[in-house]
Amino acid sequence: MKNALLLLTFTLLLGTFSASAQTKIDPKAISEKMQWFADAKLGIFIHAGIYSVQGVDESWSFYNKKISHAGYMKQLQGFTLKQYDPAAWADLIKESGARYAVITTKHHDGVAMYDTKMNDLSSVKATPAKRDMIGPFFEALRKRDIKCGAYFSLIDWSHPDYPGFTKDSSRYFVTRDYARWNRFRTFFQGQIREIASQLKPDLWWFDGDWEHSAERWESEKVRHLVLSGNPNAIINGRLQGYGDYATPEQNFPVSRPKYPWWELCMTINNNWGYQPADTNWKTPYEVITIFADVVSNGGNLLLDFGPREDGTIPEESVHVLKELGAWNRKHAEAVFGTQPALPQGHFYGPTTLSKDSTSLFLFLAGNPGKEVVLKGLINEIESISVLGANAPATWKIVGKISWSAVPGLAYIQVPQSKIDPYMTVLKVQLKSPLRLYRGEGGL
Ligand code: GLC
Repeated sequence: MKNALLLLTFTLLLGTFSASAQTKIDPKAISEKMQWFADAKLGIFIHAGIYSVQGVDESWSFYNKKISHAGYMKQLQGFTLKQYDPAAWADLIKESGARYAVITTKHHDGVAMYDTKMNDLSSVKATPAKRDMIGPFFEALRKRDIKCGAYFSLIDWSHPDYPGFTKDSSRYFVTRDYARWNRFRTFFQGQIREIASQLKPDLWWFDGDWEHSAERWESEKVRHLVLSGNPNAIINGRLQGYGDYATPEQNFPVSRPKYPWWELCMTINNNWGYQPADTNWKTPYEVITIFADVVSNGGNLLLDFGPREDGTIPEESVHVLKELGAWNRKHAEAVFGTQPALPQGHFYGPTTLSKDSTSLFLFLAGNPGKEVVLKGLINEIESISVLGANAPATWKIVGKISWSAVPGLAYIQVPQSKIDPYMTVLKVQLKSPLRLYRGEGGL
């Protein structure tokens, strides 16, 4: 059910996003404010909530009736945050190489993780933690020059004036009781105002827009609300056509997406929130190769972990973030602030390009052979080196015919003693900005 719904959502979202890109929002007008996002490449997503107490699906567990709503809400009493250390979280995020973080200010279950005045359902008023999770975290992030993102669920299945409740029961029909819907609207927009004024997010990550139309949510007004607090705030593409970038979820593009900005959100194991029963952890190698693929296709990766109710982070997530961080430090030049490089067909693997288009980076997964081949490169190569290893590589131009305009193949010898355990990156320094031969071969 959830998967089918998510798939449908994804399809609708893509439709909505392209419609929004074409009609409602002018990409040129927002490209300046999107620059930090385009350069950032890596964000960390955090699903923090009472669902970590029993380790059940965030909000969906009661919606899908795996647990009763009352049983779900009992978790409020077990949410302590007693070891929560926002500075340590921010240090780990910095270490991972991420340039931004997005945290759940409120999931579909309606439990706010910040100090809302709009109702009593919050980590401050309804749990033994008695704490605002978000303010101190944003402060710690800002100290480390990391941008702050607020995830906010438009859906609120616990609110008495929200129509949806579980998969087969709803409270009322909006068309029959618009006054009640208006009360809910005042409520959720009030929360958005609070977050905008107190927390001033650099990025808003709305979720759950699929339950109602743009007219019902008043998406245009919500966009204005957000931007009036911070005109430079970036909004994800889940506001029924009023967001700035697309958010494919747990799905890997095969061909390069056409959107100017996109972000793959992905979990380190299989779930967004903390679930001890889920041990299907991705390895650092898997995360790094996925990350390189995303960057080479012009996107960002928003990599999620779910903390425990006491505020500690599962060791497996810490391990992945640290290994990714070490790899990022070694290969920063090939990742951050780059642009996608070669279309498919020139090189078997991900590639990126420096902003001035003269350094081409080739990513070699795992255990590369002795040689790799680069096809259709018109430029002359100045030098090739193994990034982060300070080691030169040699190459040979093969099959270049003097009378033909078709470039030869560059066979590059990969220095076997300099292989990175995860992904080796070759830096190909060109004598001039990249030019590619895209034809079908000469006569
Ligand atoms: C989906 C789910 C939600 C999760 C989100 C993250 O929209 O409803 O549980 O938080 O994806 O991308």
